[in-house]
Amino acid sequence: MPSAPPSAAVAAAAADTDVSGPALIVGATGYIGRFVAEACLDSGRTTYILLRPGGGASPARAAAVDALREKGAVVIEGSVDNKELVEEKLKEHSIEVVISVMGGPNILDQLTLIDAIKSVPTIKRFLPSEFGHDIDKASPVEPGLSFYEEKRRVRRAAEAAGIPYTCICCNSIAGWPYFDNTHPSEVPPPLDRLQIYGDGTVKAFFVAGSDIGKFTIKAAYDLRALNKIVHFRPACNLLNMNEMASLWESKIGRALPRATLSEEDLLALAAAENCIPASIVAALTHDIFINGCQTNFSIDGIKDIEISWLYPDAPFRTVDECFDEHAASLPLDQISLESSPSDPVVKRLPVPPTCA
Ligand SMILES: NC(=O)c1ccc[n+]([C@@H]2O[C@H](COP(=O)([O-])OP(=O)(O)OC[C@H]3O[C@@H](n4cnc5c(N)ncnc54)[C@H](OP(=O)(O)O)[C@@H]3O)[C@@H](O)[C@H]2O)c1
Repeated sequence: MPSAPPSAAVAAAAADTDVSGPALIVGATGYIGRFVAEACLDSGRTTYILLRPGGGASPARAAAVDALREKGAVVIEGSVDNKELVEEKLKEHSIEVVISVMGGPNILDQLTLIDAIKSVPTIKRFLPSEFGHDIDKASPVEPGLSFYEEKRRVRRAAEAAGIPYTCICCNSIAGWPYFDNTHPSEVPPPLDRLQIYGDGTVKAFFVAGSDIGKFTIKAAYDLRALNKIVHFRPACNLLNMNEMASLWESKIGRALPRATLSEEDLLALAAAENCIPASIVAALTHDIFINGCQTNFSIDGIKDIEISWLYPDAPFRTVDECFDEHAASLPLDQISLESSPSDPVVKRLPVPPTCA
């Protein structure tokens, strides 16, 4: 549940920033990375993005790079595996903030990034690629646990190296929480049937992609977030699956069949072999909606802080607004929504990303 802010410690502190210089973002072409890079550019900071040469020439990646360049991002070609190059570039551009938004298969590459950062005196903040749950508190089933163990190694390495850090635990992306690695902000909620995990009563925090970006950048440049784990827990977006389903039904103006995906179903999906990353997502879905991993601990205000304590007046986009936008993007008047779980006549529609 949301914790009350500590009266003196964090809430009363001034928003001092001793960091104002350029940022380097690693993973800016990724799903979360685009939100972070855009927010960094929107904040007016000089924003470098490290791009792997030949790291996938998909049209979506090329479009993402073009869009970021147009907004002012400066591209540095290279991979984080190349310690000498990264070190040289960090020094050459006097980078102060390094934000890693690298994806699942490359989490351990950050150990080389940390090695490079260690020898660059201008670095005032490192944000490792976390952007989910608190990996020291949550304990999902495999293969989620092994994924967290890799992220834990990166946290420990940053601490051991004495690098000033901030870890972002932004919880779930605002959107329908698909269990199968469908990116929720890129696909609207279902139109055929609504799958409810367990009994649908366990709550989670949902944060719009643009808010993940915006608040990550605020924290990266905020002295109060130095060496802290920053939790995104917007009270307005604390919902369970039953509430998410009813909200979506209210937006499309009709009820949909509901199907239960039980704890056993989710565990079986997580245990499926050779299904990474889908099995990792199933394990994390189990941890969220069965174990309650986002809400089953309180925040101490010492090592762990809540983003809303730092910026009490900054609003979050609501799931309600995100669902409005998804519904407006669908030709609902042309779609027959009479379906049943066994015979869905309405397929999930491909639509462009809308909820940013
Ligand atoms: N809270 C949530 O709901 C949620 C959802 C998804 C992800 N996440 C978390 O967010 C983080 C990012 O995940 P994602 O899904 O956004 O990742 P992603 O879409 O897979 O993107 C990964 C990015 O890292 C870059 N990269 C990988 N290896 C690199 C290297 N050696 N050198 C330079 N760049 C490299 C990729 O560049 P290329 O373009 O070259 O491939 C890409 O830009 C992860 O920690 C993940 O667990 C959280």
